[in-house]
Amino acid sequence: MVTDTLLTSKPDSIETFTIEAADLPAFEDMPFEDIEELPLEHPGAKDPVYRERRDYIASLAKKFRETGEITDVDYTEEEQDVWRFVASELEELHQEKASPFYLKAKKNLGIRNDRIPQLTEMNKRLRDTTGFRLAPVEGLVNTRAFLSWLSWRVMLSTQYIRHHSRPGYTPEPDIVHEAMGHIPMFTNPAFSDYSQTIGHAARLATDDQIRQLGNLYWYTVEFGLVEAEGEIKAYGAGILSSFREMKHAFSDEAERRPFVLEEVIEHDFTYSNLQPVFYVVPSYDFLKKETRRYIETMM
Ligand SMILES: [Fe+2]
Repeated sequence: MVTDTLLTSKPDSIETFTIEAADLPAFEDMPFEDIEELPLEHPGAKDPVYRERRDYIASLAKKFRETGEITDVDYTEEEQDVWRFVASELEELHQEKASPFYLKAKKNLGIRNDRIPQLTEMNKRLRDTTGFRLAPVEGLVNTRAFLSWLSWRVMLSTQYIRHHSRPGYTPEPDIVHEAMGHIPMFTNPAFSDYSQTIGHAARLATDDQIRQLGNLYWYTVEFGLVEAEGEIKAYGAGILSSFREMKHAFSDEAERRPFVLEEVIEHDFTYSNLQPVFYVVPSYDFLKKETRRYIETMM
């Protein structure tokens, strides 16, 4: 059960704390954004077969909140083809521009280009490395709730995959974005602690501070760049899971600025086509320490 002690604990005291998903009553009450209707710009919005399949996979996530057990998805060949297309398109760019930690972690998690990885297998390895775990969800959760789950070292993850007509594009998180983008980084201890710290803050934050935390999350976990081996590399999931962002982030069109926390939290992001500005951290440890400093002023 979620206890008062947990709710008021400071980041340092519960850094390695983990709990069983089934013990979390709040899972029954997930505050989703409006996910019943796909927006018209979604390439699958007018495809009834796709929608039925997406709804079915979403129902597996709903079941998780009753049983606490992840149900793996028996992906179709068409879905596997979407994954294979994106994975092979990204492969070369990853080798060239993804952070060395990410590349190692992707391999260690068993994420391959020829098949969609299952949440259960990645979950096991995550638990063994940083104690992070995955919880399936059926769509976008509001910012405060989504970030708050990080405080329990829980990463909410979708399982369905984007529409086959546009494999390079998705207007919503999907298994490509989660597994190709987010999940490997949660095996990094400093990055995991950093994410958990954001989670603690989200549970105490005012609405304006949630805006700041949303910006921080956006420019790091989603679109972060890091210095590694004398170069700038990508560790943000929004870059790593998108061929276009991967190319764009390192191009002359994009602006790459040094990470200054006070600037980042006030830089409101937009869901634009390609990100105009990226922030570069010197290390994940720096990110963790800087964020702790900021969070302490909030508490
Ligand atoms: Fe994401």
